[in-house]
This record gives sequence, C-alpha cells and structure tokens, in this order.
Amino acid sequence: MECSLRSSTRVLSLWTLIIGSFNIAGLRPGSSVGAESLDAVNLSAVSGGDATLPCDTRSPQPPDALLLVVWYKNDVPIYSYDGRVKGPSAHWADASLAGRARWHATPHSALRIRDVVPTDRALYRCRVDFKVSPTRNYKFVLHVIELPEKPKIFDESDKEVMGVAGPYIEDTSLKLTCVVSGGKPMPRLRWWRDDKVISKLDPVEDETRLSLLELRIPKLQREYFEAVYTCTADNTALVPPLRVNVQIQLYLRPLLVEILAREQPLSVGQETEMACRAVGARPTAIITWWLDDKQMAVTDPQKISEDRNETISILRWTPRMEHDGRVLMCKATHAKLDHTTLEASMTLNLHYIPIVELQLGSKLNPNDIEEGDDVYFDCVVRANPPAYKVVWEHNGQVMTHNQRAGVIAGSAHLALQGVSREQAGKYICIASNVEGDGRSSAVILQVIYKPVCKNKMTAIVGAAINEAARVACEVDAFPVPKNFQWTLNNTMGTVELDSAKYTVEKSGRSILTYTPSTDVDYGSLACRATNMAGQQIEPCRYTLLPAVKPDPPTNCSTLNLTDDSAELRCLAGYDGGLQTTYFVEAWELDTLIANVSTIMPVWKLQGLGSGKELTLVFYANNARGRSEITTLRVHTLSRLALHTEAQNNVGRIDASWALGIIAGAVGTLAAVAIIALLARKRHRPLQYEAPTQTVKAYKGMHSSNHSPIQPDDKNPDVVPLGKDFNCTRDSERPPEPPPYGAVVSPPVGASRSVHSLHDRSHTPHTPNTPVSDAQSIGTLAEDRRSVTSGTLSRRREVVTTRTPLLANARESCV
Ligand SMILES: *[C@@H]1O[C@H](CO)[C@@H](O)[C@H](O)[C@H]1NC(C)=O
Ligand SMILES: *[C@@H]1O[C@H](CO)[C@@H](O)[C@H](O)[C@H]1NC(C)=O
Ligand SMILES: *[C@@H]1O[C@H](CO)[C@@H](O)[C@H](O)[C@H]1NC(C)=O
Ligand SMILES: *[C@@H]1O[C@H](CO)[C@@H](O)[C@H](O)[C@H]1NC(C)=O
Ligand SMILES: *[C@@H]1O[C@H](CO)[C@@H](O)[C@H](O)[C@H]1NC(C)=O
Ligand SMILES: *[C@@H]1O[C@H](CO)[C@@H](O)[C@H](O)[C@H]1NC(C)=O
Repeated sequence: MECSLRSSTRVLSLWTLIIGSFNIAGLRPGSSVGAESLDAVNLSAVSGGDATLPCDTRSPQPPDALLLVVWYKNDVPIYSYDGRVKGPSAHWADASLAGRARWHATPHSALRIRDVVPTDRALYRCRVDFKVSPTRNYKFVLHVIELPEKPKIFDESDKEVMGVAGPYIEDTSLKLTCVVSGGKPMPRLRWWRDDKVISKLDPVEDETRLSLLELRIPKLQREYFEAVYTCTADNTALVPPLRVNVQIQLYLRPLLVEILAREQPLSVGQETEMACRAVGARPTAIITWWLDDKQMAVTDPQKISEDRNETISILRWTPRMEHDGRVLMCKATHAKLDHTTLEASMTLNLHYIPIVELQLGSKLNPNDIEEGDDVYFDCVVRANPPAYKVVWEHNGQVMTHNQRAGVIAGSAHLALQGVSREQAGKYICIASNVEGDGRSSAVILQVIYKPVCKNKMTAIVGAAINEAARVACEVDAFPVPKNFQWTLNNTMGTVELDSAKYTVEKSGRSILTYTPSTDVDYGSLACRATNMAGQQIEPCRYTLLPAVKPDPPTNCSTLNLTDDSAELRCLAGYDGGLQTTYFVEAWELDTLIANVSTIMPVWKLQGLGSGKELTLVFYANNARGRSEITTLRVHTLSRLALHTEAQNNVGRIDASWALGIIAGAVGTLAAVAIIALLARKRHRPLQYEAPTQTVKAYKGMHSSNHSPIQPDDKNPDVVPLGKDFNCTRDSERPPEPPPYGAVVSPPVGASRSVHSLHDRSHTPHTPNTPVSDAQSIGTLAEDRRSVTSGTLSRRREVVTTRTPLLANARESCV
C-alpha cells in the first residue's frame, strides 16, 4: 500500500465549517504561573468553540479588595471589570469582541470567549489591581485551531464515494483518495481498516489547504469482500478525529459448482430430483441446467444460504430413454460478470426396463419353414443394469431348455431343432433386470407342413344308389391347401374322381358329392390335399357303403322328468349313411300320448299328464326304413308329492344306473377320503391301520361280483378295456376277423356314421317287453356291412357297466 501527500490545485467549493460547541477541556488557570512571570501560557481553543482565559483575582492578603481587572489583547485593552461597582455597569468590553466575551468570578475567575474565531489568535494579558497589594499580570497565548472539513472519498474516476465503493471485480485494483480541505494547523490523515491504521499522512505546513491520502489495493481478493475502510482527519486532541467510512463492494466469481451426488442411479420414467450447488459467487450465482446443449426448465426457485455464499438449484425431471449416455450439466453463472461460468457435468447412466427385440434368425425365410427345419431366434436385449435373466415364451407358455427335445434356450438365442408344427405360434422373449421385465413384441413362427387328415380313422359313409352323398375331407395343414385329389378304390381298381364332383373351400376343406349308380360304385374313397409343403402322405379314407336303414338310438335316458314333461336323450346309432330322423313315441298302455320326431336324438315331451306310467319307444328312420326300437319305461311325477315321487320314479326307471352312480360316488368319496386321510396322517403311523382296513372292505365289496378284474379305485364303475381282460363268454364266440381300426364320425351332418353295433337279439321288438337296461349294454352286432365290403372287419369292443348292486352281471363281450 502506498500513501502519498500531494498538493492539489483542485478548486474545492468553499465549505462552511460547522462546528458544534466544543468543550475545551484541560484549560485550567495555571496556578504555577506567578504574577510576575511574563512567560506566556499556551492555550488552545477550537474555532467556533469557547475559550476560557483564567485569571486569578484572589488577593494575596485577605482583607485587601479587588479594584480592577483589565484584559489586553496584544497590549490593547479589550475588557475590564471594576470590583467596586455593583451590577452590569462593572463590565466593559471592547466592541471588537462583539459581545462574545464575559468575565466570570466564579467558580474560578476567568474571561470566557464564545464562538472563537481565528482572529482571536493573539497574546492576552490579564492585569489585576488591588487596593493595597501590588498589581498582578498573567500572559496567555491563545492558539485558535481551525478544524478541517469532513474528509471526502473519491474513486479512480474522481467520483465522490458515498458509503459504498465499487462494485469492483475480483482481482482488479482499487484506489480511493481521501481528501480533506482546510484545517489549521494542517490535519493528520489516516486510513483505517477496522482498528488498524493502514496508512497515514502527517501534517505538512504548506500553502495548499488540501490534504490527500490515497488508499491503494493492487489486487482485490476475496478477503476484501465488503471490507470497511475509514479515513480520519484530525489536527487537535480537543475533538475526536473527523471520519468517513467506505465499504468495498466486490463481485466475486463462483468458486465451485457441483452436482450433489445421488445414492441411486436414475431410472427412466421416474421423476427424480437433482441438486446443484454453487459456492462463492457475489451476487449469488445463477444456476442453469443443461442436457447436452439444451437448457432445461427448472420450476423451483433457487435456494440461497443465510450467508449468501451458497446457491442450490433443484431440478425436478423425468429422464427418458434417449437421455441415457448424454451429459447433464449444471452451470453457475455470475449475474454481472461474463466468462465466469463454472460447470459441473455428469454423464447419465440411466437404468431402464430391458428393451427387447426378438428376431427370427436372419438366414431364415419366415414363410418357408418346414417341419424338421432348425429354427433359431435372436433376442436382442438392451438393458441397464444388464438383464439377469431372459425367458422365452411360446404361445404364452414359458419354455424350458430341453436339449433332448431340441429346445436350446439361451439368454440371447433360442434354437428349435427339427421344428414341429406344434412349435408354430407366437414367440416372445422377456428380459428382466431390477427395473422390471421387458417383453419383446411377438414373432409368429409359421411352420408349413403337409396336410394330415383331421380324422385319423376311416369313416363310413352310407350312400344309396342314385342318391347324392356328401363326403367332407378335412385336413390339418399349413398353409391351407388349395388342391385336393379324390380317388375311389373298388373292385375295378383305383380311379381318380373328376374335379367337378368336389369343391375346395377356402378353409381348406373339400366336399365330394358322390352319387353311386351301381353296386360297383361302392368302395374306398381317399382324399389327398396338397399345399406348399407338398402332398398329403396318408390320405383321408372313407368307406362308401350302400345306404341302409339306421341303427336304433341307444343309451336312452331322461334328463328331466316332471309331472307333465320329460326331456329325453339317446345316443344315435349308425345312420345308414342317410339323413335320419329320430322318433319317440310315448305309450300309456295301448294309447299313444305323444309322437315326436327330431333331427337329433334329443326330445322334449310335454303334456304327458302327471302320475302316468309310460313306455317310451325310440327309433330312427331314414329313406331306407325304420330302425329297431329301444324302449324305456318312465313314470311321470305325481303332482301332489312331486318331490318324493320324482325321486322314486327316477329310482325305479333307472335303478341300476342311479344306484350304481350313488354307490360309485360313495365309493369314490370313501376312496378320496381315505387317500386324504392317508396323506394327512402319513407322519402318524399309529393311526395308519384303520383307513387301510376300510380300503380292504371297500375292495371286498366289489370283488363279490367275481370279476377277475380289480376295479380301478379311482373309477370303480368302469372296467377299462385291457389285454388282460378275459371275458368269460369269449370262448363262445366265433373267431374274430382281423381288426380294422376304429369307428369314427365325420363331422358332416349328412354323413354321420357313428357305427354302433347293435345286438338285435337283446332288443325286444314290442314296446310291452322293454328291457330297461338295454341302454346300458353295448352288444355285438352282426356285421351287416361286411357283406357289401369285403375289406371291412370289426374290432371287438367291450363295453360294460358294473355296479355293486348288479354284481353278477352285465358283462358283455363284443
Ligand atoms: C508555548 O508555545 C510556543 C510555540 O508554540 C513554545 O515555544 C513555548 O515554549 C510554549 N510555552 C510554554 C510555557 O509551554
Ligand atoms: C464461501 O464458501 C467457500 C467454500 O466453503 C469459502 O471458501 C469462502 O470463503 C466462503 N466465502 C464467504 C464470503 O463466506
Ligand atoms: C385298393 O383296394 C385293394 C383291396 O383292399 C388294395 O389292395 C389296394 O392297395 C387299394 N389300392 C389303393 C390305391 O388304395
Ligand atoms: C325341467 O323341466 C322343467 C319344465 O320344463 C323346467 O322348468 C326345469 O327348469 C327343468 N329342469 C332342468 C334341470 O332342466
Ligand atoms: C308317429 O309319427 C310318424 C310320422 O309322423 C308315423 O310314421 C308313425 O306311424 C307315428 N306313430 C304312431 C304310433 O302313430
Ligand atoms: C351307453 O351305455 C353303455 C352301457 O350302459 C355304457 O357302457 C356307455 O358308456 C354308454 N355310452 C355313453 C356315450 O354314455
């Protein structure tokens, strides 16, 4: 710091020096001053203040009296006091004093001059005359001190600074000049910071009336922020120094900016709060957020710490997927200073639900995947954090890795070796990480395969001579076949049928309309479809038989029996290859009460009347004639005791069924209960005995029918077909023809051909002698059709019902 005194030629306006009243302290009559001493006593008074010039008037010899006190200024009398006169006339003052002076006798005798002016500066003498004692003289030199004017501070551009200097920019220099005008003697100038003197100018007596003291700070650092400097001027100890304060205002650059760390990584789609802190800027920093080069909107106002040193900005923001890997930046700028921006940045590492894309292997043509081809999928997963598992789904079912089945499921690839048609469908891969599960969109795998007959078994189609029969060929194929080929194999050989005879539907079905005109036209029909994958290998086969009269309905039962109505159902027998109508006649003795026909063997009879014993006669009819009949006796409910009657009737009509079902249910329940008990008490071996015996008892009951077969515990009423089933009546049968497969019903209504084999000998022809349990017995039918089709043979079918109550009996062999 450098301070200098400089004379100034600057013209300052004339300042009026306004000085209040000053106490002139320390001015006491100098008791040591002897009356005879001519050495003058130095007295000081501040211009504008008071001056007291003491003069001891006490007589040396007490009875002596004071006559006169006379004051001389530079040996010219200016004031006198006559001790002999009472009242105001005792005082005389020269006009030059302008009434400012007054003699006071008490407490200490002295001449007091008010409003001291510079011209009061002089040598004063006080002469005291007594009556007897000799005259005494006192001499004083009155120094009149003229105070300087209040200091003024000027900045570098000579502008007066009032209170605050600046603002300065950090690290620049500062020069303040403290200017004091006037003062006699010349004042001393000092710069202070707090209570420390920084620089000082000692009074130099020269002709200028201005004193200047500079304050120079070459580099305004942070420590000068809001520092207060004081300039003082003083030229007497009588009054405190004149002072003026200046505070330095400083612009400080931000010191640091930082993005406050978060504990957790950011997640895509989840609103997050991020904080950025800037320290050290004055005025406080302005924080802005940037994503790459785009400024982001911040809604919350910045928070400023109490000492205004710290600014915090909160960013509320929802990261999106595309922000991953981009740079989030927080900038702290100074409101006033350019090029002082500080930046903090972070590269966004966003966590997100895996983004999954499923692709069929690039070398595969999705439209040309045949059964047996190897197929592979790529699951492209983008995930952060990395997916910890990848799961594959086929048609909504999670797939498991199964190398033996040719399913190789990895995290990035799925390979299906030798793909089958069942593996066609929707494929999805699902990748999971902590954020969640990401599903790919579905990729449809199409597996093309040659047509396969939906009905694996040879169907029987009946057709009358010169009557059109419709035969439907339905195949399972992908893509849907467009070409069909029908052939007929009969005694004449194999012929391909003219395409005019059949249609090909869009759904991939072909319908042949075939009209046999002679016996030779019967035989085996075969249908082959062809699609992109090729021609069907195993054709759909049909046996074309001459139409015959239908088989009777079987297994007839009442579904709902009331006091007036009955709902009935039977199983349709073979329809003879023709459109068949099903009849039911209700007879009460010899009276026909109802005669209803339907296309399906399901009827609803109404208006039967209550409490009637009825014989129901069922038969089927087609163009070739009427079938045998099946009868069933029912008892409509009595109106009075509807509920109980109903039970009784049902019981009577269908005793064997009902009881069988009940017993079966009881048995099943018992078995279930036992199994449950066993399961529950397995760990309690002491209680094991009792349930075991129950099982034995139960089995014993069943074995009373002497059947060689042990009933299946789960289904004791049904004896399954099995190789080990030795039917007791088997030996009575003639040797069996070789098996020919199974009997099926093609779905076309006109050619229904459920081929029920019917034993006529067990079916009475008259309604009066019905066998109520005929419905429950499948019987062997003599194969009427074998006459017309040499190739046809029958498999043995065994159908039986066993109930505990019908112990001995109904076992039939077919
Ligand atoms: C009075 O002041 C003058 C100069 O200012 C000095 O020379 C003189 O010695 C002083 N007298 C006394 C008694 O102090
Ligand atoms: C502001 O804070 C910074 C960092 O804590 C510190 O270095 C600096 O001195 C502070 N400034 C003020 C003026 O308090
Ligand atoms: C036709 O039927 C005969 C006798 O069943 C059989 O031997 C022959 O293989 C059949 N031909 C075709 C083409 O199906
Ligand atoms: C039985 O038939 C009656 C009369 O037709 C009817 O009201 C009732 O709902 C039927 N019950 C069942 C279980 O079908
Ligand atoms: C029942 O109706 C059918 C056709 O309507 C008829 O052929 C049959 O003879 C009738 N039955 C009796 C017993 O009348
Ligand atoms: C028809 O009745 C027989 C004998 O009672 C039985 O074995 C068979 O399961 C029944 N068929 C149907 C489809 O209910």
